[in-house]
Formats: sequence, C-alpha cells, structure tokens
Amino acid sequence: MTRLTVLGLLALLILPAGACSPLDDAVVAVFGRSMRDQPTFDPYENPRPAPEGSVPFAAGNLPSGPFEVNLGQPQGLGEALPPFTQLDVLNEAPVVMGLSNPVALSEASFERGEELYLRFCAPCHGPNGNGVSGYIIPAGYPPFPLLSDRAIAFSDGYLYGMIRVGRGLMPGYGHQISHFDRWHVVNYLRLLQGVASAPAFPEGTGDPMAREVPQATPQDQGGSPN
Ligand code: HEC
Repeated sequence: MTRLTVLGLLALLILPAGACSPLDDAVVAVFGRSMRDQPTFDPYENPRPAPEGSVPFAAGNLPSGPFEVNLGQPQGLGEALPPFTQLDVLNEAPVVMGLSNPVALSEASFERGEELYLRFCAPCHGPNGNGVSGYIIPAGYPPFPLLSDRAIAFSDGYLYGMIRVGRGLMPGYGHQISHFDRWHVVNYLRLLQGVASAPAFPEGTGDPMAREVPQATPQDQGGSPN
C-alpha cells in the first residue's frame, strides 16, 4: 500500500467522524433524541426540593425573590436578565438605563445593602461613600465620591449596571453580588446619598432611621412598615 492510499483511507475514516452533525441527525432519526440535545444543570443545581431541615447555601442560580435564600432551585426570575457590557454602561444604553428596581425601599433592604456595601464598596469609596476615606486610596485609587450630584443623578439601572459589570477603573462585582443583592446595594447607596429613606415604623416599634447612617435625612414620616 502506498503512503497515499493510507492517507486516503484515514481521511475516509476521519472526515465523517469530524462532521458529526449528519451522524447525529441519523441518530435522532433512529432513537428520537440526540447527544447534543439533553437537559443540563447548573453547578449545584438540584431540581428536587431540599431535604427538610437542611441548611441552604448559595448556588449558581438566582434566588427567586428579594430576601429569599437560594436553595439550589432553578432560577425563578420571571424574565431573564438582559446581558450587557461595560460599554453599555458607559454609553448609557437603554438596556442598562431601562432596568427598573424591583426591590422596594425598606429597612431590611437597607440593612442587606449596608452589609454588602461595607464588604465590597467601602474599601474604595469609603464607609460613607464620600470616597476620601476609602482604605485603598493610599494605594493609588482615585477617590470617586458616591455622594456627588453626578452620582445622585445616575439612574438605579446605571448603578446596578456599574455593580454588575464595573466601569473603567472600577472592577465588576456581578460574580460576587447576585441580582437582588445588587438592588439592595443600590437602595443603600440612595440612603447614603440622602435621596431615599425607609418607610417609617408605627409608634413605638423603633425608628428605622435611628441607626447611624451618614448623610441620611428622614423624609418620610408617614406610612406603614414595609
Ligand atoms: C477597587 C476599588 C473599587 C471598589 C471596590 C468599588 N469601586 Fe466604584 N469606583 C471605583 C473607581 C476607580 C471608579 C471610577 C470609575 C471610572 O474610572 O470610570 C468608581 C466609580 C463608581 C461609581 C461612579 C461614580 C461617578 O461619579 O461616576 C459608582 C456609582 C460606584 N463606583 C459604585 C460602587 C459600588 C456600589 C461598589 C460596591 C459594589 C463599588 N463602586 C466598589 C473603584 C471601586
């Protein structure tokens, strides 16, 4: 056998295997389903309900609502989140600007937002959001204040977008702060900026604004607890 014949035979063997689509289609015709088309699961996703008394942990899926703990169930958001990039944030694209905040202002939301803000944002923007007291400013990060008129004028969607994908020198935190938590951070940011306040509690049940939040001004004294 010449070398050419061997090569020819090899090509005959390899080529159909490489072009797997027709082969796959033939398998579908015979067996009714293909290897390409199968149910897949996210890491840690468990389609069965969690065993009673088990301790939940965060999975790759999104929790189904604000304050809900993710039990590893498939994501329960009504509609899928549109994907966007830093460029969309920079260009104030409608996909970012049009995002509406699904998490109502409440003391619980502020508390969650505060926890995350102190953990993720304070290192650079300072615990009050004024930038100057950011711990890593001495390392060369510019002090970007979040209390400026400019930052106050940003839409909720823009702030959400910045948290998710970052902008310029600021890293994105979408992989660490999940969907509803990002909105809690946005709400807390509004509290720091003094443009939002918690719904007031009825007499005697405690003033939600009593805890120390710099720059916050209680505006809403009426109403009921969230
Ligand atoms: C590693 C440091 C760092 C961390 C942590 C950080 N930021 Fe930033 N942030 C920056 C820098 C730097 C800028 C300026 C971005 C640019 O160059 O466009 C910025 C800009 C911003 C702006 C826009 C300010 C303006 O006037 O345009 C907002 C809003 C913001 N950050 C919110 C947040 C929030 C919310 C968090 C927490 C989830 C956070 N940042 C965490 C460094 C950081």
